[in-house]
Amino acid sequence: MLIKKAIFPVAGLGTRFLPATKAQPKEMLPVVDKPLIQYAVEEAYAAGVREMIFVTGRHKRPIEDHFDMTYELEVALEQAGKQELLDVVRRVKPDDMQCIYVRQAQALGLGHAVLCGQGLIGDEPFAVLLADDLMVGQPPVLAQMVEQFTEWRASILAVQEVPAEHTRRYGIVAGNEVSERMIDVQRIVEKPAPPMRRRAWPWRGATY
Ligand code: UTP
Repeated sequence: MLIKKAIFPVAGLGTRFLPATKAQPKEMLPVVDKPLIQYAVEEAYAAGVREMIFVTGRHKRPIEDHFDMTYELEVALEQAGKQELLDVVRRVKPDDMQCIYVRQAQALGLGHAVLCGQGLIGDEPFAVLLADDLMVGQPPVLAQMVEQFTEWRASILAVQEVPAEHTRRYGIVAGNEVSERMIDVQRIVEKPAPPMRRRAWPWRGATY
C-alpha cells in the first residue's frame, strides 16, 4: 500500500454556508445521517489510508470530538442493550485508524492548510480530501486515484466537467488526454476569489 496518510483541511471559515456555520464547522453538516467529514474519512479508509491528519482551526473541536471515544454514550447504549447503535458509534473510528490534529492558526487558504501537515507527511506520498465536496463513486473516488497513482507515480487531481457558464465558480484545468479519463495537466486557473476575500488575501485569485 503506497498511500498511508491523508490530510483533511478543515480549518476554513465556511462563509458560504452562514449562518449554518456560525458556530459549527461546515465539515460537520450532516448529509442523511452522517457529517460530511465522516464520508471523507470513510473514503480514505476504503482506499487503504490509516493515518488521518486533520488541519483544524478554532471552533473545529466538534470534529475532534466526533472521532474520539464517547465513553458516556457507549456505556449508556451498552447498558440499554442497544448493540446496533453501539456498533454505529464505534465504527466512526476503527481501531486501526489513527487521527492526528494540527492547527492552522489563521485561515490563509487551502495551500497553506496542506502545508501545515508537511512535518507529519515527510517525503511520503499522501492524499488530500476536501470534506465539503461529497463524491459518490464505486469504487470510491480516492481508491480509483490510488490505483492510478501506482501506475503514474505523479500528483493526481480528481476533476469533473462543468458547464461552460459555471467555470467562474471553480478551479479549471487544461491539458492533453493521455488515456481514457486521464489528462496530462498543462494549465490550472484558480477559482476567482469573492470580492471580500480578494481584499484580504490578494494572492488567492492568482492564475498559473
Ligand atoms: P473552501 O474554500 O471551500 O472552504 O475550502 P472555506 O474557506 O471554509 O469556505 P468559504 O469559501 O468561506 O465558504 C475547502 C476546504 O479547505 C479547508 C476548508 O475547511 C474546506 O474543508 N480550508 C480552507 C482550510 O482548512 N483552511 C483554509 O484556510 C481554507
